[in-house]
Amino acid sequence: MALRLGDTAPDFTALSTEGELNFYQYIDGKWAVLFSHPADYTPVCTTELGAVARLKDAFEQRNTRVLALSVDPLDSHHGWVKDINETQQVTVNFPILADADKKVSSLYDMIHPNASETFTVRSVFIIGPDKRIKLILTYPASTGRNFQELLRVLESLQLTAEYSVATPANWEPGQDVVVAPAIATEDIPARFPKGHRVVKPYLRYTPQPNR
Ligand code: BEZ
Repeated sequence: MALRLGDTAPDFTALSTEGELNFYQYIDGKWAVLFSHPADYTPVCTTELGAVARLKDAFEQRNTRVLALSVDPLDSHHGWVKDINETQQVTVNFPILADADKKVSSLYDMIHPNASETFTVRSVFIIGPDKRIKLILTYPASTGRNFQELLRVLESLQLTAEYSVATPANWEPGQDVVVAPAIATEDIPARFPKGHRVVKPYLRYTPQPNR
């Protein structure tokens, strides 16, 4: 059955460009972003892996491990990484799973047969330190992902895991957030001492509490 938000992310052990990798050991109590690519030596994937290499520090700063997957074998990955480093002016600094037997992509339902029988689609799973799935995104092969958006979502997930707030449409870190419906308006001043404004009884804004 397909994985859903709140499910425990399945563990696996698989080959990667950084050696044999056990997923739970790799994430090591941190947040994780697991993302799949249709195939090695393809243009969009090449730019995506370059983009993630450039953002590796930003993910680290958010206590987050990144892990890529492609269904080609390891020797193909090693050759492709050289091309990525050369063309994207980066050093790929995170592991890429070599899922030639499609074990991990099947486990995470990354192959959508009506899109392609053989390629994985562009799946993204964000997994929390509790190993539960917090976000699932699915993009087609022809559309490269926006990894700045993944950082923004991580900020929202980490904020809302800690405080009874939610982040409104197009929210960017530092902007006001909305108070969770479970909090009574009379309780807001004690919970959110930076202030608040009530637009409707169900729409209450407060400054981002952890800034
Ligand atoms: C790409 O990564 O460029 C790509 C992969 C599969 C199909 C289309 C594009």
